[in-house]
Amino acid sequence: VNQLQLFLPCAAGVEPLLEAEVKKILGAGAQAEAVSAGVLVQASWRETLQLNLWSRLASRVLVQLQRRPYAKEEDIYEAAHDVAWEIWFTPQESFKVELTSRGSPLKSLNFAALRIKDAICDRFRAKSGSRPNVDTHSPDTRVYAHLTNDRVTLYIDTSGEPLFKRGWRDADGFKGDAPLKETLAAAMLAASGWSPEQPLVDPCCGSGTILIEAAQLALGIPPGGARRFGFEKLRPFEAHIWNTIKTVANNEGGMRANPSKSTENLHIYGSDVAHRMVDFAQRNAERAGVAQALNLRGGDALQRKPPCERHPSLGGLLLLNPPYNERIAVAGLAGNAGHANSPDRQPREPRIHRAEPRHVQPVSNPSPAERSQSHEFASQRDTTDDFFSQLATHWKTHYDGWTAWLLTPDLKLPGRMRLKETRRVPLWNGPIECRMFRFDIRGRQEKSQS
Ligand SMILES: C[S@@+](CC[C@H](N)C(=O)[O-])C[C@H]1O[C@@H](n2cnc3c(N)ncnc32)[C@H](O)[C@@H]1O
Repeated sequence: VNQLQLFLPCAAGVEPLLEAEVKKILGAGAQAEAVSAGVLVQASWRETLQLNLWSRLASRVLVQLQRRPYAKEEDIYEAAHDVAWEIWFTPQESFKVELTSRGSPLKSLNFAALRIKDAICDRFRAKSGSRPNVDTHSPDTRVYAHLTNDRVTLYIDTSGEPLFKRGWRDADGFKGDAPLKETLAAAMLAASGWSPEQPLVDPCCGSGTILIEAAQLALGIPPGGARRFGFEKLRPFEAHIWNTIKTVANNEGGMRANPSKSTENLHIYGSDVAHRMVDFAQRNAERAGVAQALNLRGGDALQRKPPCERHPSLGGLLLLNPPYNERIAVAGLAGNAGHANSPDRQPREPRIHRAEPRHVQPVSNPSPAERSQSHEFASQRDTTDDFFSQLATHWKTHYDGWTAWLLTPDLKLPGRMRLKETRRVPLWNGPIECRMFRFDIRGRQEKSQS
C-alpha cells in the first residue's frame, strides 16, 4: 500500500477548515484539496493512521479504491468486482456496504448496494473459495459507495466508528442533553480562530464538549488517543507502526502546533445553570484527561461575570451553542420570567423534552403546525427572546472588548440580541442548518450630558 487517494468527509461548511487541519497534521506540503462535503488527500498508509489519530474535524478517513462512470446496476457490480478487496480484508472479516447518492438515476439504491455486496462476495469466492459474511450492526470492515448522476466511487473505511466518537463519553450512560458532536465543537474552535493564549468561556457548557476539545487541542492530546479504529482490522495494519505513531503522539504532542504541555497559562472556563450538567462535564473532562485544565462551575449565563482578565492583545472569547428551542429550553432567571407565579424566582433547571423531533425547526421559523400548537411554546419563545436580549445587555455591561461566537439554528438570533453580527459562518449540525455568529462586544456608552 503506497500512495493512497483519501477522502475525509466532514460537516458541510467545515471543508476549508479541514483542509487547513490536514496540512497542519501532515505538513504544509501535503496534497489536500477541499471539495464538497470533505477533503481529498494524497497520503501514505502511515499518514492515513496519523489523520485518524489527529483529525478533530473529519468524520472519517476513507481510502478511495474505485471511481468510474456507470449507467446501470451491472456497471456498479463490475466496478466493485474489479477492486482488489483481498488486499484490504480477508473472508474471515465481516463487512457492510453503505451507499449514498446525489442525483443517481437508478430506481433502487438498495439494489445497487446489494450488487456491490454480491460483487465483493463473488470476487472473494473466486479467489479463495470462501466469502466474508455481512454484518450490518458491527461489521469489521465498512465499504462506502457514493453515486452521482453518472459516477460510482468506492471506498474502504479506515476509521470504524465515526471520528466524533473520541472515546471519552460514558458509552453506556447519560450522554448529556443534546450534546454537541465533538467534530462540530472542534469546527467552532477552528472557525473562531481561538488560540490557547486567549481566555475561553462557555457560559452554557452542558456536557463540556467545546471546552474539552479546546483543552485537548491546547495540551496536544490526540483526539483519537482513547479509541480503537477500523484500520486495526485491515490487512495492511502493522501494530509496531501504529504503536510508534502513538508513542510519538504521546511524547511530543505529535502535531506540528507546539502544543503547550502545561495548564498554567490556560484560561478555559465553563458554567451551566444546571448543576448536574456541570458535574457531568467534570466527569467527561476527567475521562478526556483534561480536568486539570478546566474551570467549571454552576451558574446562570445572565449572571456570570468574566472569570478572568482578557488577554491584552487577543481579548477574550465566549464560545457557545446556547439553548435554542423547546427541546433544550432556556433556564435560570430568564426561564422564570414568563412564570410569574413561581414563588421565589429560583432559577429553573432546563426542561428537556425527551420525545425529540428528528428535524429541529428554528425558533424563528416555526411550521404552521407548531405555530398553532400550544401556548406553552409561545411563552417559551418569549422566554428565549428575553434570555437573548438580557444576555446581550449582560455582555455589554461586563464583557467589553470580548468576542462572542454563538452556534445556532436560529437565523434571527442577532435580531433577538439586538446586536449586529460582525461575521456569520454557515455550519451544518447533521441535517440542521446553523450559523456561527460573531459579535464584537463593546461596552455601553454613557449618554453624554448636554
Ligand atoms: C444546547 S446545550 C449546550 C450543549 C453543550 N455545548 C454540550 O456539548 O453538551 C445548552 C445548555 O444551556 C444550558 N442553559 C440553559 N439556560 C441557561 C442559562 N440561563 N444559563 C446557563 N446555561 C443555561 C442548558 O442547561 C444546556 O446545558
